[in-house]
Amino acid sequence: MPPAPATTSAYPPGRLAFPHRHLTGIMGLQPHEILFLLDTAEEWIEPNRTRAAPDKRLAGLTQINAFFENSTRTLLSFEIAGKRLGADVVNMHAAQSSVKKGETLIDTAVTLNAMRADVIVIRHMSSGAVRLIADKVDCPVLNAGDGRHEHPTQALLDALTIRRRRGRVEGQRVVICGDILHSRVARSNMLALTALAAEVRVCAPSTLMPPEIEAFGVAAFTDFDAALEGADVVMMLRVQNERMSGGFIPSTREFHARYGLTLDRLARAKPDALVLHPGPMNRGVEIDSDVADHLTRSAITEQVEMGVAVRMACLDVLTRGARGVEGWA
Ligand code: CP
Repeated sequence: MPPAPATTSAYPPGRLAFPHRHLTGIMGLQPHEILFLLDTAEEWIEPNRTRAAPDKRLAGLTQINAFFENSTRTLLSFEIAGKRLGADVVNMHAAQSSVKKGETLIDTAVTLNAMRADVIVIRHMSSGAVRLIADKVDCPVLNAGDGRHEHPTQALLDALTIRRRRGRVEGQRVVICGDILHSRVARSNMLALTALAAEVRVCAPSTLMPPEIEAFGVAAFTDFDAALEGADVVMMLRVQNERMSGGFIPSTREFHARYGLTLDRLARAKPDALVLHPGPMNRGVEIDSDVADHLTRSAITEQVEMGVAVRMACLDVLTRGARGVEGWA
């Protein structure tokens, strides 16, 4: 069950603001811990824009980004985040690694650990793979997306984008539409947004809707037009063909007709409703270009910008113990 929603950003006094060694998911985080990460990320937005005074607080630390699955945004933003904080950042792409020669995930993890990484960022196609590695290594591990399970930093950057553009997350009607069944982004967002007291609606064809979805504290819709009524935020997700076997939708054309976000359809949401998409987008399938590129309604590039700040915050907070930061060591 999700934790009770947070209605305040006050952290409980006398407790470590973020007591977790790893960030493997939003599941298990308390609302005030999510807010702490958002508040910490907020502090990096302006320095990232002005690049005025570099803060190399991770100098001397080694960050390994081990990506067993393709990525543009997450890999690059973790790399930029680590480098802006002064870490030595090394990227391991599975396609060029010994994984291709049959090495097991555990052996790869033990190898990375033996190189004395100070923090490891992992993307993997299997749900639970990040937790498996976290249990085998001596340093903090950050989940950059594992299978259909979770993508916690994506949910954090989405929440930060919503908070900045709408003023708050609490009470916002957020519609998440697309392939809910296969989406780790949907799962992490349902957990984070309900924890922050948003009203979350999920919308998908019945074939792409997980059973017992209401256990997440969200309302499920198969009619996109109905789901959009009065929405403050519309988050579109792509159909995850790489995680499917068999036909979950009759055709992309039909999917677009029923679930694609067009300007006409967006008119059902509030006049100032915000449009989000984690990327990569399939233009003309789940979202039309005139929505994706809309100057005032689309916050898709802002999400990417927030991604760097959120990942800087997560790298900073998870390495505080190792860096001997007062109160965290
Ligand atoms: N949103 C996201 O995870 O994008 P990438 O797959 O490009 O990292």
